[in-house]
Amino acid sequence: MKIEFRKAKNKDINRCIEVRGLTSDNQFTKNDLAAIGVSAVSWSSLIDDSEIIGFVALDKDIVIGFCFGESATGEILVLAVLSGYEALGIGKELLSLTSYHLFTLGHKELFLAASATPVVRSYGFYRRVGWQPTNTYNNDGDEILTLSKYDVGC
Ligand SMILES: CC(C)(COP(=O)(O)OP(=O)(O)OC[C@H]1O[C@@H](n2cnc3c(N)ncnc32)[C@H](O)[C@@H]1OP(=O)(O)O)[C@@H](O)C(=O)NCCC(=O)NCCS
Repeated sequence: MKIEFRKAKNKDINRCIEVRGLTSDNQFTKNDLAAIGVSAVSWSSLIDDSEIIGFVALDKDIVIGFCFGESATGEILVLAVLSGYEALGIGKELLSLTSYHLFTLGHKELFLAASATPVVRSYGFYRRVGWQPTNTYNNDGDEILTLSKYDVGC
């Protein structure tokens, strides 16, 4: 299997939304995303204006994973790998590509909110790839984790 990575484009959004609902755990369906204001319409102009930047992973030209971050704040907004493609290093590569891009915009520290439940795969994943838990939580109960540019040698 040859997985390719490239910068995300506007035309990828519908498929990314689909993939977010087809992960093996911690799924967010199209309706779940719409409820928090994320839709192809709302994200298209943000991507066009580079307010949101990201990368996609492709298997035979089909998006099987993606990651997006917010240019102004340095927040990683979403990361997802399609069920059946986990544990191949795809999530790590997508997160690295997006993080490096955000660091090149001038951020010294990035942040994200992730499940605070250890049984959720992302809990161990983010710690494994170098993100630091902060013991602070957002209104949804998700934990804030950070990544310093100095820790990744940027
Ligand atoms: C979390 C997610 C992105 C991980 O993607 P992935 O492609 O399976 O992860 P990778 O294969 O890149 O793993 C990278 C490293 O983390 C390790 N890892 C992954 N999950 C782990 C866990 N739960 N505990 C410990 N280590 C873990 C891997 O073993 C690998 O280690 P290595 O670099 O030493 O080989 C993916 O499982 C996913 O899409 N989950 C559902 C959506 C989600 O929760 N997204 C995050 C929302 S905040």
